[in-house]
Amino acid sequence: MMEEKQTKDVFILAIESSCDETAAAVVKNGREVLSNVISSQIDLHTLYGGVVPEIASRKHVEKINQVIQAALDEAGMTLDDMTAIGVTYGPGLVGALLVGVSAAKAIAYAKKLPLVGVHHIEGHVCANFIAHPDLEPPFLCLIVSGGHTHLVMMEDYGEFSIIGKTRDDAAGEAFDKVARAVGLGYPGGPKVDKEAKLGNPNAIAFPRAHVEGAPYDFSFSGLKSATLNYINHAAMMGQEINRPDLVASFQNAVVDALVSRAVAAAKEYGVDKVVMAGGVAANSALRAKLSEECEKNGLKSYYPSPILCTDNAAMIGAAAYYEYCKGVRSGWDLNAVPNLKLGER
Ligand code: KG4
Ligand code: ZN
Repeated sequence: MMEEKQTKDVFILAIESSCDETAAAVVKNGREVLSNVISSQIDLHTLYGGVVPEIASRKHVEKINQVIQAALDEAGMTLDDMTAIGVTYGPGLVGALLVGVSAAKAIAYAKKLPLVGVHHIEGHVCANFIAHPDLEPPFLCLIVSGGHTHLVMMEDYGEFSIIGKTRDDAAGEAFDKVARAVGLGYPGGPKVDKEAKLGNPNAIAFPRAHVEGAPYDFSFSGLKSATLNYINHAAMMGQEINRPDLVASFQNAVVDALVSRAVAAAKEYGVDKVVMAGGVAANSALRAKLSEECEKNGLKSYYPSPILCTDNAAMIGAAAYYEYCKGVRSGWDLNAVPNLKLGER
């Protein structure tokens, strides 16, 4: 329940710079995106096979003011029209986060606007409020990103309990490592997704790990090792691997692990909505399987459009709105928190 009933429209200028996208957006009342500007650094980092933190920070410094101005222009508004400033303060790369946090603090201070620090992963969850105007808590949420794999029970806006998480690698991390091992390079997830469409997902029977006594926890390190062993074994034997079959089978094992737990948890917790969030939620096989299994089990499935799955500032604006309505305000001492845990504020 919202603690403060808003009588006037709330316009949030949101800023996101936790990794390799410099992004700013204007969001009205948490759900309506008036602009969503993303300046991606992917081409730059591709040269190095992954995100180089120092380069990311420098690029954010170069781009941040232009991106913020572009977001305001696209919305046809100025800073004087804003109600509050929302910004990602963690988790992420410390130098990258600091650029967004500093810009947000400077604007908020100069314009005497409230400042709302947002947890990046909570932002990913809130991307669904933009994508699905009618979606409201409670629901079960499967968070699958580069650094997180969590199952959470979203009881209300900004209020949730963690019911499962990965014991080792995050799903996105597993995608990225396997992509590198088979020579698909960076960014791994989308490349595996594309190549897997050409392969047979049942060609190789990779393991589906279960964590003893924790039915909703995940473990992907065994699957990652099994995939790498398969590649090394083939190389030792001088055998060619069928790359599409290999990545399709790997992807299938990840998708199985994610979807089976999400559906089982929704049933146990008595909710009929399963929501997916984070970069890996853009995966086409995962989206298809979640929809199919939810339908079979009388559940409704939700996920954002691919552009709202990857890092963007509109999702931060949505999260900031619900925090703002609850009266959450950050101080001028707001700092970047690179290891901010889910559930920590
Ligand atoms: O949510 P995100 O920006 O990461 C964090 O906030 O931590 O997502 C990035 C992750 C990367 O690991 C990337 O490879 C993965 O999402 N990803 C995908 C796809 N698109 C992005 N993984 C699988 N299939 C995709 N289509
Ligand atoms: Zn992210």
